[in-house]
Amino acid sequence: MKKVKSDKLATKAKSATKAKSAKKKDSNLVSINFSLNGKQVGVRVHPMDRLLDVLRDELGHFGTKEGCGEGECGACSVLIDDELVNTCLVPVLQVSGRKIRTIEALKGGKELAALQNAFVVQNGTQCGFCTPGMIMAAVHLLETNAQPSEEQIREAMAGNLCRCTGYVKIVKAVQMAAEEIGGGLL
Ligand code: FES
Ligand code: FES
Repeated sequence: MKKVKSDKLATKAKSATKAKSAKKKDSNLVSINFSLNGKQVGVRVHPMDRLLDVLRDELGHFGTKEGCGEGECGACSVLIDDELVNTCLVPVLQVSGRKIRTIEALKGGKELAALQNAFVVQNGTQCGFCTPGMIMAAVHLLETNAQPSEEQIREAMAGNLCRCTGYVKIVKAVQMAAEEIGGGLL
């Protein structure tokens, strides 16, 4: 039994190495450079690879989630040049030279602290799968409108789906964070 398992592992490792060396030789790969959370990064990828896959698989930024993969749920939201974008719909070629912010960019900052606290206090997160996308949408909103009305919050978050919370708690969390930050993001 053990032998079968180790044979399987060896085969898996071999095919991973093969895939890596095939990728190295792939003449369709291009170099793309962009700013990711304030640092310049470069990747060798197919130009039509989805930004979502490049962020996760090439750059290890796993905070950006894949939900629908079709631009419908917002789980994969990031900011590109300060605009909220679904990365499952963006070929990586399009971000060459641009500025990307993912949920990881907020680490240690007051936006995340205020939003995290508000999401916890208001029970705005349950399974948590939608939360990084929700927070990126909220940051985008609060950077452009520091004191949004409930209607404006609902409108801004409309592209982000949550299967767990029923949205009321998420809206309350964003309202609470807005009050706490008090326009400090603008
Ligand atoms: S995974 Fe991109 S919008 Fe759903
Ligand atoms: S908390 Fe589960 S999908 Fe939103």
